[in-house]
Amino acid sequence: MTDKSYTVEDVRADAPAEAPDELVAWVAEQAELCKPDAIYWCDGSDAEWDRLTSQMVESGMFVKLNEEKRPNSFLARSTPDDVARVEARTFICSEKEEDAGPTNNWHDPKEMKEILGGKFDGAMRGRTMYVIPFSMGPLGGPISQLGIELTDSPYVVCNMRIMTRMGTAALKLIGEGKEWVPAVHSVGMPLRDAEGNTVEDVTWPCNDDKYITQFPETREIWSYGSGYGGNALLGKNCFALRIASVMARDDGWMAEHMLILRLTDEKTGKQYHVTAAFPSACGKTNLAMLQPTIPGYKVETLGDDIAWMRPGPDGRLYAINPEAGFFGVAPGTQYGTNPMAMDTMTGNTIFTNVALTDDGDVWWEGIDDPMPEHLIDWHGNDYTKADAEAGKLAAHPNSRFTVPASQCPIICPDWEAPQGVPIDAILFGGRRATNVPLVAEQYEAAHGVFIGASVASEQTAAAEGKVGALRHDPFAMLPFCGYHMADYWGHWLELQEELGEKFPKVYQVNWFRKDSEGNWLWPGYGDNSRVLDWIVKRVAGEVDAVEGVTGLYPKYEDFNLEGLDEVTEEVWDKLYDIDPDAWAAEMDDTEEYFEQFGEKLPAQIAEQLAKFRERIEAAKA
Ligand code: OXD
Ligand code: MN
Repeated sequence: MTDKSYTVEDVRADAPAEAPDELVAWVAEQAELCKPDAIYWCDGSDAEWDRLTSQMVESGMFVKLNEEKRPNSFLARSTPDDVARVEARTFICSEKEEDAGPTNNWHDPKEMKEILGGKFDGAMRGRTMYVIPFSMGPLGGPISQLGIELTDSPYVVCNMRIMTRMGTAALKLIGEGKEWVPAVHSVGMPLRDAEGNTVEDVTWPCNDDKYITQFPETREIWSYGSGYGGNALLGKNCFALRIASVMARDDGWMAEHMLILRLTDEKTGKQYHVTAAFPSACGKTNLAMLQPTIPGYKVETLGDDIAWMRPGPDGRLYAINPEAGFFGVAPGTQYGTNPMAMDTMTGNTIFTNVALTDDGDVWWEGIDDPMPEHLIDWHGNDYTKADAEAGKLAAHPNSRFTVPASQCPIICPDWEAPQGVPIDAILFGGRRATNVPLVAEQYEAAHGVFIGASVASEQTAAAEGKVGALRHDPFAMLPFCGYHMADYWGHWLELQEELGEKFPKVYQVNWFRKDSEGNWLWPGYGDNSRVLDWIVKRVAGEVDAVEGVTGLYPKYEDFNLEGLDEVTEEVWDKLYDIDPDAWAAEMDDTEEYFEQFGEKLPAQIAEQLAKFRERIEAAKA
């Protein structure tokens, strides 16, 4: 077969009537470059899902799971070199290097376009180019945004159908003239070269050479070489965080790596909305679906990963979840600690890189059921107790489930409210075995930004890198901020000033503190409702707090520890134990970290560092 040529007229002939000319012309241009064998416009229907999933089962890319146990669900296995976000290959291609800042990989946009032009030339030979119209946020909502992803991966199409509002309805809005973000994705493994030599397809096509690129000025995304998660599902980190953070800066709103939950006080009926930022794979899904262990509260989930927040007409901050599904980390997820997540993925779910049981269901380390005698591991190999004893893992640590948010048993009835929900408190957390207390409230607004800016956390498997090493991850946005990190802090300070007292207070939390023997000091999970209880009491002005080094702490007597016998007063003290020398060292490290931002570091942040040091000195005295 030889390359097809795509004129605008050819593309128009097969395009849905809703597609505007500008979009058709763009698709034709990309098809001329990528040279797919066919173009397919996704409508988002059930029939389309059935067709694509059946095709993938046939090609070996999907394993169909047991229809009785896990209806309409599938397992995909990637190659070992394509299992996580590739931060070293993620680029912000702003016109000026200083606009990307020291925490992003910058590349000149013109040069990058040339590189990508070479990579994408013929990248889709032998494959179909899928055109995916999608909306981030409820269709037509005032905070929502539209996009088009072109991809040569049917796996991406099916995941995008779960993670976004995908299909004809989104295309209609684009047809009505609404703006949209162009996003082009290829796994980078054409099935034919320019001379017509062919290669056999594989179950997980990808390329060793990877480029995850964002162009903030033109608001474009180009992703090459990976089929996995945030590298390939371009509505998520590339759009809803990197590009959206730039849109948000320019238009006075916020795009944040945060879950959204509603906490209802069942006695009074009062509702509180909380957003929380944690570095990737630090339990955001668990907090979003928390089952309170203390009576009188109900939690409902609005989102588990990303929040877009905008000042509302009443001057408060309103949040929506731009995503329509959860792309959660599987290992460790179990009925014992997150029954709502388990009950969400009972069907219509795509699993990636988990283990397969002999009866066609899924298994991973940390799930409730003990390991069966025999499994097929995430490499597709037999796996037995001997492998487990040899330290091999059956599921990859960053294996994932992709599932519609609507299936969550505690999904909030307002999760698709186009105008969002008003936010009462913002939490920042990380995995910290030492130093950081269970919960602390900001002293003042700028201290809240300082808390976000100085987040450091033990590295997880969500990105390539050494698991366990402490890394700075300001606002849990280190890999996701589409512009200069210090300007982003400046944007927070501006919005705080604009909203004044109505801007939600910031809380620093840490569920992961250990004692000197390495035992967890705090049970976490459902018991984190006790922390939320204290926070909403503070929001309602019902309790006082004590001044501490890192912020305002709960009084022991105000904090609900009823029924939690293991947290004695002695343990409580350890949860709040502040070693001034350790904090002095941490502030030296933070100052050194901040130095890279040079003159862009907002003066208020430097001032907060000085105030922190004063509190350390006072604690030493
Ligand atoms: C994600 C991440 O995939 O944070 O959401 O890595
Ligand atoms: Mn995330």
